[in-house]
Amino acid sequence: MSWLQERRQFVKALLSNPTAIGAVAPSGPALAAAITASIPPDAGKVLELGCGTGVFTREMLRKGVDPARLVLVEQDEAMSSSLRTQFPQAAVLQVSAQELSRHSHPEMDGIGVAICGLPLRNMSGAHHHRLLTAVFDAMSAGGSMQLFTYGVRCPISAGVLEACGLSARRVGFVPLNLPPASVFSVARLV
Ligand SMILES: C[S@@+](CC[C@H](N)C(=O)[O-])C[C@H]1O[C@@H](n2cnc3c(N)ncnc32)[C@H](O)[C@@H]1O
Repeated sequence: MSWLQERRQFVKALLSNPTAIGAVAPSGPALAAAITASIPPDAGKVLELGCGTGVFTREMLRKGVDPARLVLVEQDEAMSSSLRTQFPQAAVLQVSAQELSRHSHPEMDGIGVAICGLPLRNMSGAHHHRLLTAVFDAMSAGGSMQLFTYGVRCPISAGVLEACGLSARRVGFVPLNLPPASVFSVARLV
């Protein structure tokens, strides 16, 4: 997809549902590098939530992740269709992330790592709880979820994290993104 096509697709989605997009532009290359930094090429199954135009997905492929091991979740129809074209070997689920479960979506069972591109600041604590429960229920031991947010505060409250048996720590700050963003790693409490 060309730079212009990507921008067009993003703006169209933004105008039709600003709250669900929650950003002014696709993430830049520095954020894509930071959020995928801890994912080795042999990561196993990788779940990506809120893929948008596929910025993080392309970065994972560039790093050598097997496209057949990707499970991509995107609720927007046009973006999902474009993801299927760009990544024909990946499993693309056009579904709301809050509706995910390992029972209704067996593709996500046994994921080793997750990347979250969802606009978490626009979601409620109840949605965060449901999402984290579904993701970590399907995640193998030692797995983690990398997420980004604009600014420096974790978008998921300490109460929700504790209720899910999880903790979050900031693992990166990317000033060269529009807007500047932090990357957090969420993992099970030991
Ligand atoms: C901020 S954009 C990020 C896109 C891409 N990851 C990036 O960084 O450029 C958020 C994406 O999440 C998708 N999204 C928002 N809410 C969602 C939900 N509940 N379930 C699945 N996808 C969702 C939007 O359609 C949009 O593509």
